[in-house]
Amino acid sequence: MGFLGQRLIAKAGGDGQPGLAAARVVAMRRSVVLAAVLACVVTTPSLAAGDAQAGHRLAQQWCTGCHVVDGAAQGPDTAPSFSSIARRSAGDPGPLRAWLTAPHPPMPNLSLSRQQIDDIVAYIGSLAPR
Ligand code: HEC
Repeated sequence: MGFLGQRLIAKAGGDGQPGLAAARVVAMRRSVVLAAVLACVVTTPSLAAGDAQAGHRLAQQWCTGCHVVDGAAQGPDTAPSFSSIARRSAGDPGPLRAWLTAPHPPMPNLSLSRQQIDDIVAYIGSLAPR
């Protein structure tokens, strides 16, 4: 036991430096990744509150199963079309935003991020008649 213990201590001491160096490399990689993520977060708001094109893509991806997402006025009767939602919420996106923020049976809980909500609100807003 004493022998093994001494060996372990010797080994730990011997590995101490390279281990530290490796930890520093990992820490450096982490900060590079962090800087990249921060750069994205800092530059995205320049796209303003919401990006209607991104919202369109999101809607095609997540909402077409039930809603008519494009400008078409009519579609399946399961859920209101986005253009009818746009007509109703024109000028006041507040209720629309609130609707998308909270989970809403029968709609699946989509857990949209705030950016995604902004994008979808911008897209639906772009469908409103002017
Ligand atoms: C599984 C089907 C389904 C999916 C997927 C779905 N919805 Fe819905 N949605 C509905 C139904 C059904 C209603 C009507 C609920 C009601 O009137 O009580 C609705 C209502 C809404 C309303 C409220 C309309 C109003 O009456 O003011 C909005 C806004 C909305 N959906 C947006 C979305 C968006 C954005 C997505 C995609 C991110 C989405 N929905 C995905 C089924 C769905």
